[in-house]
Amino acid sequence: MTDLFTSDNPWELFGLWLTLAKATPGISEPTAMTLATASPQGAPSARIVLLKDIDDRGFVFYTNYASRKSRELMENPQAALCFYWMPLDRQVRMVGTVEPVSTEMSDAYFATRGREKQIGAWTSKQSRPLETREQFEQELHANTLKFESVDPIPRPEHWGGWRLVPTEIEFWIQQPYRLHERRVFTREAGGTWTSVMLYP
Ligand SMILES: Cc1cc2nc3c(=O)[nH]c(=O)nc-3n(C[C@H](O)[C@H](O)[C@H](O)COP(=O)(O)O)c2cc1C
Repeated sequence: MTDLFTSDNPWELFGLWLTLAKATPGISEPTAMTLATASPQGAPSARIVLLKDIDDRGFVFYTNYASRKSRELMENPQAALCFYWMPLDRQVRMVGTVEPVSTEMSDAYFATRGREKQIGAWTSKQSRPLETREQFEQELHANTLKFESVDPIPRPEHWGGWRLVPTEIEFWIQQPYRLHERRVFTREAGGTWTSVMLYP
């Protein structure tokens, strides 16, 4: 039995792998994952975000709701996530649909962030063109003054979480000679998960 079969529940298996990644030296961002989105015409784009929560529906990250990724997700809610933990030679990838998390959940997470990051979230027009770095720094400074006597800083409406609700999750372990092991879970109509192995 390999680590691919420690559990028949993909949530539990992912939790075990993430715990292992967090305990492994040399993985500075164990929650870093590639998020792939696509335009309504199907043109893909990808970037790294951090996994901030796993609940019983899916995998949660936070970002600017006016960013490129969010604009694409609003128009086309299909997305993919991919984790790679290099020292462990393991990969997890999943596809599914996204939904915004509740405003209460975004508020609660925003409240845990330091004031500098909160002011950054208020100031950044993420993914929009910026003339000069100085302009952004001036806007940051202006917001720092604006919020000086505001505590707690409220969450801006343009910032919050997305949850990817997976329909398929694949676990991959590198093996010598490219003879890797792969196990893919698929969510059935009733919500149960079935799995098969894949050729390398
Ligand atoms: C390690 C790492 C972690 C990141 N985490 C986040 C994140 O959690 N949320 C976020 O909006 N951007 C994060 N970014 C920045 C994104 O990769 C990206 O540059 C930004 O979100 C704009 O993407 P977009 O223009 O496709 O919307 C992270 C980048 C790196 C390298």
